[in-house]
Amino acid sequence: PDDVGILALEVYFPSEYVDQSELEQFDGVSTGKYTIGLGQDKMGFCSDREDVNSLCLTVVQKLMERHQIPYTAIGRLEVGTETILDKSKSTKTVLMQLFENSGNTSIEGIDTTNACYGGTAALFNAIHWIESSAWDGRFALVVAGDIAVYATGNARCTGGAGAVAILLGSNAPLIFDRGLRATHMQHVYDFYKPNMASEYPVVDGKLSIECYLHALDKCYEIFSSKAKTAGIKGSSGSLLDCADAFVFHSPYCKLVRKSVGRLMLNDFLQDPNPDLIGRYSGLEPYKGIRLEDTYFNKDLETAFMTASKDIFEKKTKPSIYMANQVGNMYTPSVFGGLISYLVSGNAQDLAGKRVVLFSYGSGLASSMYSLHISDDLSTTSPLHKLLNNLSDVKTRLESRRKVAPKEFDRVMKLREETHNKAPYCPVGSVDILFPGTWYLAGVDSMHRRKYERK
Ligand code: ACO
Repeated sequence: PDDVGILALEVYFPSEYVDQSELEQFDGVSTGKYTIGLGQDKMGFCSDREDVNSLCLTVVQKLMERHQIPYTAIGRLEVGTETILDKSKSTKTVLMQLFENSGNTSIEGIDTTNACYGGTAALFNAIHWIESSAWDGRFALVVAGDIAVYATGNARCTGGAGAVAILLGSNAPLIFDRGLRATHMQHVYDFYKPNMASEYPVVDGKLSIECYLHALDKCYEIFSSKAKTAGIKGSSGSLLDCADAFVFHSPYCKLVRKSVGRLMLNDFLQDPNPDLIGRYSGLEPYKGIRLEDTYFNKDLETAFMTASKDIFEKKTKPSIYMANQVGNMYTPSVFGGLISYLVSGNAQDLAGKRVVLFSYGSGLASSMYSLHISDDLSTTSPLHKLLNNLSDVKTRLESRRKVAPKEFDRVMKLREETHNKAPYCPVGSVDILFPGTWYLAGVDSMHRRKYERK
């Protein structure tokens, strides 16, 4: 099949959020730590009415309705998540209830898990299916969904929640570049979830940042070399010139800002003849430095962040809008970045653009890959349709309800106390949910979950 890629995108985030500057006050940390220090403005969260299954049900049905896709047209459905409700039964099988009326049970794919990387693994699986001998011509649907919550303490402000659904097929308006995939995987305990009775991870924050930056270096190195071999436009010089947008998994926006500086550092160190008067002016002292020695070098970080400011503003800032407004959605984060980029400006400016994406999941698994956007923006084009169906993202974000940190804290305690409880009848309000949201109606004594739609 030609032009395998993304035909449609849908995003769901909770209808309630907590304001990060109010959270700074509530947590008793210095003013600006979460908002300026981490670059976060708002954090979405769910009451006990929502779980990862309901999030995924909501986003899938929304996508199918909005794009008027019959349920029989799906031949593969993959879920990427790290929010585990059951050690055996997958979220994919829960989603099968949406397909029941259509009679379509012939749908490959199942759940994939490794921290924030599961959605990317699911995406790659779906692409491979379409490119394989097993493909029967139908669409693949990839769903990434998570509820990111941390125990009280310095990581709690980096939570979030949401789900993204991605419809894949041939002749797509967002086309994956072939042969341009870079991956780095490694055994490390930076963030993991060994406690089956809790929603919370065990986190070594500092190590997770180091691992993220190291994975970025490794993926970029492989990606750069493949881009050069493939003769991608602009790749002979600084790789930052070969794409129009760089989209990152965003644990918090400041790390993404630093990551752009990091790519420039990589380009600088790779360049046998760096332009020390132009792009790299003032960076001469860092010539010959080893990447491994630089993860927490403040002066270097500041120097490269300053030098890459314009590139960040132009090529990455548009993609962190949702991450700033919702927080870390985990598996959907990088796709939320792609959606933010797509809705950020004038659709005309998107035609023909190349986007590089970086996905990171602790533990660790990471990949860098790219896609290019079709040139055809006519009113009947698939690109027009894709963009048109995303046009309400901003209004939806703005229509959410702000909740005081004290109430957020109470909801977190409730989730903590009732996690995995059976039987259980959720108490969270259904009224506050967006129309069309699936929610948890109850859990029976055999841990069977029942969902209803608002
Ligand atoms: N005004 C402005 N900036 C401030 C202020 C203030 N009042 N106070 C602190 N800051 C800055 C700090 O200087 C620091 O900036 P820097 O990183 O540029 O030096 C930043 O705010 C954060 O402050 P720290 O003291 O470093 O924060 P802390 O160590 O308490 O927690 C952390 C941050 C480690 C990210 C924590 O929130 C965490 O563990 N989060 C979860 C793990 C995570 O997200 N890891 C990333 C990759 S893995 C993943 O995706 C889950």
